[in-house]
Parts: sequence; C-alpha cells; structure tokens
Amino acid sequence: MFAPGPPERVAGFRGDRELKRDYVAAIEYLDVHRAFPEAGRQHEALSGVTLRVERGEFLAIAGKSGSGKTTLLNLACGVDVPTAGEVLVDGRNLAEMSDRQRSLLRRTHFGIVFQFFNLMSTLSVEENVSLPAQLAGCTVRESRERARRLLSDLGLSGRERDPIDRLSGGEQQRVAIARALINNPPVILADEPTGNLDSESGTVVLQCLARLSREQGRTVLMVTHSSDALEFADRVIHLRDGRLIAGGG
Ligand SMILES: Nc1ncnc2c1ncn2[C@@H]1O[C@H](COP(=O)(O)OP(=O)(O)O)[C@@H](O)[C@H]1O
Ligand SMILES: [Mg+2]
Repeated sequence: MFAPGPPERVAGFRGDRELKRDYVAAIEYLDVHRAFPEAGRQHEALSGVTLRVERGEFLAIAGKSGSGKTTLLNLACGVDVPTAGEVLVDGRNLAEMSDRQRSLLRRTHFGIVFQFFNLMSTLSVEENVSLPAQLAGCTVRESRERARRLLSDLGLSGRERDPIDRLSGGEQQRVAIARALINNPPVILADEPTGNLDSESGTVVLQCLARLSREQGRTVLMVTHSSDALEFADRVIHLRDGRLIAGGG
C-alpha cells in the first residue's frame, strides 16, 4: 500500500527543521467528502479533500467560518465518518476499524484542544488535567503526578488547586493543552485554539502548540480563521467551501 522510495522534502514546509516525508502520514485524507442534509438537499461540508499531515509537523488549516474546518478534525479522530473517501491514521483506515478500536484510538492517539476550552468548572485545574488519565485506567496518584508535571511545563505551577474560573482565558487554554497531553498522544488537534483569547495570551498558547511539534515531535493539526495564528505553523493550507485551495497533497 505504501510505495517504498526515498523520503522527499515536504512542499511548502517553512519550518527551520527539514521535515522529510515519511512513508506513512500521521493523518491522510483521500478524496474525502462529507455531506449533511440541509433544507432537503445534501450540502457538502467537505468536497474531495486530499491531504497528508506529516508526522511531527505543525500544520495550520485556515478558513472562514463554515468552510469545513471542524468537520475535517472530526473525521481525523473518528468522531465523524466521511460520506465518501478515506481517512487513514498512521496508515490505518478508520473505516476498517470497529467502533471500539476507533474509540480507543481517539482516547489514546489524539489530544484535542477546543476554542471554548471545554473544561469542567466544578473541578480544580489539576482534576481537569488528570481526569482523562484516570478514565484511561491510571491510578489517581500517578495521574495527578503527571498532571502536575504538565502544568509546570505549561507555566501553571502553583495553580493546581485553583478552581477553573479563577484562571484567565489564556491560562484555561493552557490547562486544556495539559489535559490534551495527559495520555501522551502523538497527535494534537486544535480547533480555533486562540478564537476566544486576546492576542497576547493567544501567542503564548500558539508557542505552546509549536513546542509540542518542534521539541516533542508531536503532530499538531490546527484549524483556525485567525490569520495571526498562522505564522506559528510550519505549513499553512487554506480551506474554502470545503475544498483545499493551496498546498494539499
Ligand atoms: N452536524 C452537522 N449537521 C448539519 N450540517 C453541519 C453539521 N456539521 C457541520 N455542518 C455544516 O457543514 C459546514 C461546515 O461546518 P464546520 O466544519 O463546522 O465549519 P467551520 O468549523 O469551518 O466553521 C457548515 O455549512 C455547517 O453548517
Ligand atoms: Mg468550527
């Protein structure tokens, strides 16, 4: 399935590292369509998207509201399925996996960061971060230790026991990044991660995401309508009305 051959440079990659195309992409979309019924007709949120997200890159997909960005992320982590085409994660076709395998993949392989943070306001900072580890079977003690380490990496030492609403938006988004990392996923999906932040705290959040790729080798796929967010990515591709309009492939 994967043609052997020498790794080649990834077109459009403008990071300071030389990113080589691995045989197997972190995520690969092959002529993906996703249609939703709308006013008695089928409306295509995505129309024939073909895209490789390389392992370890920080790829930004830019597009206006309604261009299909969230749909693209939902298809990558298997919460949604394409109406046509295929999505491969580490070379594995999501359509050939059972619901159970897909749900396990979603929990272990992907960390997800949302525009509105989606934190639980009744839990403390540390509890929010450690919860997904406990749900994955980790002991309370181990998951809290991991949470404290991640919070410290993200500049939030000393805030572990704070209630969520004591934190600024930028701090809350860093808590959400720590939560996304707690099960050590190789891929981070970020849906408008700076959409609810002022530009200064947005910059801090984008620097954190860039570090996950550059220093930790994770794949970061971010979708955004904010042009400010794009300068932090290694590569930018535009999405308009469900179609990629630059880069791709
Ligand atoms: N669950 C859904 N049911 C019906 N239409 C949807 C659904 N999800 C997305 N859409 C439609 O698909 C298009 C793209 O949506 P979305 O991926 O959320 O765009 P974006 O994240 O770029 O704002 C929009 O026209 C939206 O109304
Ligand atoms: Mg969206």
